[in-house]
Amino acid sequence: MSSSVNLVVMVVGLLVLAQQSFQMSLRNPVAATNNCKIDFTRLGLVLTSGNNEKALQDSGLFTPDAETPYVDIAGRRFHIGTLNARYIVYVKIGGNSVNAAIAVQILLNRFRIQGIIHFGSAGSLDEKSIVPGDVSVPLAVAFTGAWNWKKLGSDKGALNFGEFNYPVNGENLLASVDYDTIKLFSKGQSPQDVFWFPSTTSWYSAATQVLQDLVLRQCYHGVCLPYKPKIVFGTKGSSSDSYIKNKAYGDFLHKGLNVSTADQESAAVAWTSLSNEKPFIVIRGASNVAGGASSVSQLSYLASYNAFLAAAKFIESIPTPRLACE
Ligand SMILES: *[C@@H]1O[C@H](CO)[C@@H](O)[C@H](O)[C@H]1NC(C)=O
Repeated sequence: MSSSVNLVVMVVGLLVLAQQSFQMSLRNPVAATNNCKIDFTRLGLVLTSGNNEKALQDSGLFTPDAETPYVDIAGRRFHIGTLNARYIVYVKIGGNSVNAAIAVQILLNRFRIQGIIHFGSAGSLDEKSIVPGDVSVPLAVAFTGAWNWKKLGSDKGALNFGEFNYPVNGENLLASVDYDTIKLFSKGQSPQDVFWFPSTTSWYSAATQVLQDLVLRQCYHGVCLPYKPKIVFGTKGSSSDSYIKNKAYGDFLHKGLNVSTADQESAAVAWTSLSNEKPFIVIRGASNVAGGASSVSQLSYLASYNAFLAAAKFIESIPTPRLACE
């Protein structure tokens, strides 16, 4: 058979298929619609705190599904609906990596999820590049909470407590700590030792395009940021179960690992997404600076709001997911 004949056969075949499915949906329109609805591919929006959720609700962009606005699983509420006409499921994970990983795994098991957009707040570890109200879209995040805490007198690890003695450096019984990698399990592969979790390249580069002109919010309830807030790309983030208010430790992380933000969930979200082979992106609004003054509530809200704006804009840029029943 020549290739043009092949093509004709294929086109005719497709037409027949199309006609059949058209007839099927005419014959049983309700069933067809229901199947499609259940199997919708959605984006998973994973947010962290009550403030993050308030930002989403205040925006007026989220419309809950009329039939099934939410599903409760293991004490978490999975909100089903549309954000700016994009089909999403959002879940508030609460703090820390265990909560984050549980919520994301349930989300991926229970719904047909195309990928994970994760947003929340962060502490800046680098005041020169990220100040409160700014939004960071990191290239990668590291889990800096797995410590190999060394014996006194053994080889020195990366974090050597004696170097922080005050007022003079010296020896310290706490000795030193090295950062451990984590086993990343994924389908068809033996577990890999991972320290950095890079955001999905295609999503990250799409974000650098679509978010570059995004206008962030500068004031809330009469309180304004001193500078026009900006979106920062190309940095890296640190994530652990510790809330870091300590400037010396923040500086150590920034200098040693070249990370610019600290949070408590993003590595776990990244980890779970990678383990399930789903694309993901991390978006974090800086609400304070490690070691600096704690921010007033209006400013932490702006951090959440601006991170949400970036997440919403990114979601809008993702091509509409197809119906899985097609
Ligand atoms: C450190 O991170 C900054 C972005 O925050 C980047 O521009 C710079 O190249 C990095 N430096 C090294 C040594 O990786």
